[in-house]
Amino acid sequence: MSTDPPTAPAALPHGLLRPALAGVDAYEPGRPIEDVQRELGVSSVIKLASNEGPFPPMPAAIEAIRAAAPGVRVYPDPGAWALRDALAARLGLDPLQILPGAGVDGLIKFMCLALLEPGDEIAMGWPSFLSWRVGAQIQGAGVRTAALRADGSYDLDALAAEVTDRTKIVVVVSPNNPTGGAVGAGELRAFLDALPGHVLPVIDEAYFEYLPPGSHDGAALVAEGRPLAVMRTFSKAYGLAGLRVGYMLAPAALVAALGVVRNVFDVSAPAQAAAVASLADSDEHLPARISLNASERAMTASGLRALGLEPLPSTANFLLIDLGSPERALALNAALLRRGVIVRPTRAFGAPSCVRVTIGLPEENARFLGAAAEALAEIR
Ligand SMILES: Cc1ncc(COP(=O)(O)O)c(C=O)c1O
Repeated sequence: MSTDPPTAPAALPHGLLRPALAGVDAYEPGRPIEDVQRELGVSSVIKLASNEGPFPPMPAAIEAIRAAAPGVRVYPDPGAWALRDALAARLGLDPLQILPGAGVDGLIKFMCLALLEPGDEIAMGWPSFLSWRVGAQIQGAGVRTAALRADGSYDLDALAAEVTDRTKIVVVVSPNNPTGGAVGAGELRAFLDALPGHVLPVIDEAYFEYLPPGSHDGAALVAEGRPLAVMRTFSKAYGLAGLRVGYMLAPAALVAALGVVRNVFDVSAPAQAAAVASLADSDEHLPARISLNASERAMTASGLRALGLEPLPSTANFLLIDLGSPERALALNAALLRRGVIVRPTRAFGAPSCVRVTIGLPEENARFLGAAAEALAEIR
């Protein structure tokens, strides 16, 4: 009997995959540092591509991860109750209105799985965060998109016009990724008030912590008893992207429904412990992080203007830069990579002529601006 390996890769049986998958553009994440080091032979590489915060986890979170390490022999608390209780106390909600998950990305999948079937629709702004689009497409649902306002924020009138009898979910990403624009608190309320009753509004507040005072606060809207869901994460301002932990705030009935489709042991014990500890440490450590981000964002934006580029006004920890054409955006991206700086071309987010740069530490932002000056001279 021959033990030779097969010469051609095995084909899958015809009709095995769900037809909906054929139309889905899989999410391509920002490139890892190690990839770029290997491929381009550049030893010092910085990553400003995935909007992680530039700071390490908060001191209490690092301690909590250490303390949780010996316990990973056993499964984590499936309900993540310590985290729910801590969030409930801070946000004035019932723990049953809170669902922790493996990042907002994980929760988006569960929401789409629980709510959407072929023939249903979601409505969202575009360019925007593509996980919502992908999550709906995987279910075979339609995606209706509304153009943004010139400042890169959601145009809520245009979004309302995309709501049909088939719409199940209407998503407002604010601050929006990849543009950085946010909607106003008053206009968001008016938008929610005017939505028809068959629609679930979802506010994706992944960058909530970066918003200036007086901005919208999805947790307060949920606390008022409104029928909406709010998504937040520990991946950005809290520096826990690698642990995968975020949460949904919503009516208890929706939390229970997602409980049916979610993975039971979704959030690891170190992630739960680190999230709880981060909340306890946040009053001490978050304000300095947020204010450094704001001043570095202003510095980076003015550095870009000096290079003849005009980033969109951003309320988050990144800037979107329009290069005028997809070719120029890809050329700038490639020229930055050769200089060891990873940014994010945003074609998949619906902005093919742009790149998005995450605000990093001061020395990283300075290096980005220096590399951008050289790269622009190279690509003209
Ligand atoms: C708008 C938006 N929502 C959700 C996410 C996903 O965050 P998480 O790391 O919690 O999965 C991101 C991450 O970039 C985002 O930009």
